[in-house]
Amino acid sequence: MPEKLAIAGGTPILKRSDYQNWPIIGEDDRRLVNEVLDSGILAGGTAPQVTALEKEWAAYTGAKYCLTTTSGTAALHMALAAGGVGPGDEVITSAFTFLASASCALHQNAIPVFVDIDPRTYNMDPSKLEAAINERTKAIIPVHIQGLPADMEPIMHIARKYNLFVVEDACQAHGATYQGKKVGTIGHVGTFSLNNFKNLCGGEGGLFVTDDEALLQKGVLIRCFGDEVDEVSHRRVYNASILGYMYRNQELPAALARAQLLHLDEHNAVRMANANYLTRELSQIPGVIPPYCPPESKHVYFFYNVRFDPQAAGVGAEPRRFRIAVEKALYKEGALVGQWQTMPVPGQDLFQSKLGYGASSYPWMVNEAKGIKYVYHPDDYPVAQALCDTYTIVHGIHPPNGIELMKKLVEAFHKVFDNLEQALDYADEPIYPGADGKLYGAG
Ligand SMILES: Cc1ncc(COP(=O)(O)O)c(C=O)c1O
Repeated sequence: MPEKLAIAGGTPILKRSDYQNWPIIGEDDRRLVNEVLDSGILAGGTAPQVTALEKEWAAYTGAKYCLTTTSGTAALHMALAAGGVGPGDEVITSAFTFLASASCALHQNAIPVFVDIDPRTYNMDPSKLEAAINERTKAIIPVHIQGLPADMEPIMHIARKYNLFVVEDACQAHGATYQGKKVGTIGHVGTFSLNNFKNLCGGEGGLFVTDDEALLQKGVLIRCFGDEVDEVSHRRVYNASILGYMYRNQELPAALARAQLLHLDEHNAVRMANANYLTRELSQIPGVIPPYCPPESKHVYFFYNVRFDPQAAGVGAEPRRFRIAVEKALYKEGALVGQWQTMPVPGQDLFQSKLGYGASSYPWMVNEAKGIKYVYHPDDYPVAQALCDTYTIVHGIHPPNGIELMKKLVEAFHKVFDNLEQALDYADEPIYPGADGKLYGAG
């Protein structure tokens, strides 16, 4: 007698109360936030928490310099602006990422170009990089997706060959290492997000790291209206020397991020233990493909991503439909699973319409006026498209969740994979958002 799946009216394996919330707010967070409140200083480019966070993050990553910013997106844009990327320049990034890895180029009047991903790591495939380079290419933004470092050695090799500026999008990969080096310190600039969900969070915020003093100085100007600071008095002179933005962070997020940083390695160790447990157990289920981590890398599992393969599972379903059926059945078992990106970034409406700004589709028009055409077709990124058809994120990897939750997740996977025909019967059931009205997986 087959077991009745929860989606068919059976009893779910997990309850919402099995999950604990990330981020963990503890004594250090309260202490440092109270320090801010007691100091009465809430903001300022050289305010104490912001300055301390910059020193501590530089020390943690091994970068020479660090600047805090309002967001990871701001750090990415600041990096391109500091690196001299401008109108009509092309900036190459990965087809499977968050929009900001590409929109930061648009913010600088430059044009994003996408490269497909490696089928095992989901990071930019370096073997496809050179084909995307032309005389307009100015920069590359490799993304350390889901906490796994991009393959930086061949990327840096190609960047040196073509004299390209490299900005690492490490927004999802605080503490990850590649060949023993912290991500963010391999390219010319490294950028990190401090948003609520990230492995290092301050509520919102970002970090910009570099070893290059000229990029640092440019970053300082761009972060604060392009405004010069008097060398003697350290006061702003209200005379903008270049075009800048308002990307300064505040003291409260900086204090929170400092407190979280005290526990980053410990929290990452929990993520890795949870992930390793899931990988060991789930790899025994035919049709489940756990994430892969190459030996030269330390993956910090911002997301734990699994793919589904109907053929390996012995089911004759179309891959996308199979993923949807399994995802829904797991979700009804109480496992918080669901997609993050649902399509390659170049498939998004913005890239289909190319309605950037102005009546004439800027910034694309900068080059299209010269006869250069930009067409973003999802079929040009078949590996990213296949991933989007077949993956789901398994939530709950973050501490304080531990092995108890992982065991229940594995149990839910077994239950669903032991009853796949039943799960497929419900593939068209509309079940999102969850019963509590929450959407999981927003990043
Ligand atoms: C890969 C990636 N790049 C950039 C960003 C942008 O960071 P933020 O949300 O802090 O602007 C994010 C986070 O959402 C991200 O996941």
